[in-house]
Amino acid sequence: MKLLLLSSLLCSASAFSPAFGDGKPHSVRLYSIASSRYGDDMTGNTASLCVRRATYWCEELKADDPAKKGICSNYLCDTAPGAEVKMTGPSGKVMLMPEEDPKTDLIMVATGTGIAPYRGFIRRLFMEETPAREAYAGEAWLFLGVANSDALLYDDEWQEAKANPTANGGKLRLDYALSREATNKKGGKMYIQDKVEEYADEVFTKLDTGAHIYFCGLKGMMPGIQDMLKEVCAGKGIDYDEWLGGLKKNKQWHVEVY
Ligand SMILES: NC(=O)c1ccc[n+]([C@@H]2O[C@H](COP(=O)([O-])OP(=O)(O)OC[C@H]3O[C@@H](n4cnc5c(N)ncnc54)[C@H](OP(=O)(O)O)[C@@H]3O)[C@@H](O)[C@H]2O)c1
Repeated sequence: MKLLLLSSLLCSASAFSPAFGDGKPHSVRLYSIASSRYGDDMTGNTASLCVRRATYWCEELKADDPAKKGICSNYLCDTAPGAEVKMTGPSGKVMLMPEEDPKTDLIMVATGTGIAPYRGFIRRLFMEETPAREAYAGEAWLFLGVANSDALLYDDEWQEAKANPTANGGKLRLDYALSREATNKKGGKMYIQDKVEEYADEVFTKLDTGAHIYFCGLKGMMPGIQDMLKEVCAGKGIDYDEWLGGLKKNKQWHVEVY
């Protein structure tokens, strides 16, 4: 795959899907870059994406309906090594890591392939031999929500990162929300907002002391996240809008969902 762009750390890549049918190119699809500025091979010339092949199960046919499969994801998944892929971007500056203070805690909340940007964060903080890894002294806390343990993404990499704290005591913490294997306190699906709520006191304390919080993945997760945070604020006697406004003003609040 020949990449035509790549500059700043962890922006979105937009892949144009191939021309189809009428010969016109399809619209841009957004993918977050799942590697650091150096790429997995540390050359600075490659980037990784986390792509889920989108298929559509037809109840009538009792089979995948090929007419409704995701065009770009299937194209990317089926692309052979060496093929040229047209790309544009990067776009957006939301999923950037704070670089001023290496003690800053990060709280990374993902659903499914929304894990992509955090893979770049975690490689940079715990796996690549660079001054950034050496300096990091905070806690990077990853919350990942997937359907079940078979659907976990990059678990081997997280375990390796967790086992390798930085020289300055920076460490990775990991919590999974397995929606179809566990239940929340109300007996419903264990969604990512339920997992974060279990640690609400700690999360709020961290945010009070400058942590950055990130959300990436399904757009549909944000209403649940916001309801949960509102409820926690109400329980603590905090004005939710003011609290959120403060986080946004301090650039501690990062959302990339679609
Ligand atoms: N690839 C990238 O670089 C990238 C970057 C940014 C965003 N995204 C977006 O991220 C999304 C990820 O999709 P996916 O197919 O990987 O995820 P998925 O497997 O469909 O879902 C991941 C988890 O989220 C749960 N979930 C479903 N609805 C939820 C809700 N309302 N609140 C909280 N959790 C919920 C699912 O539970 P159940 O299925 O059990 O209900 C499952 O456990 C896509 O929309 C994609 O566009 C991708």
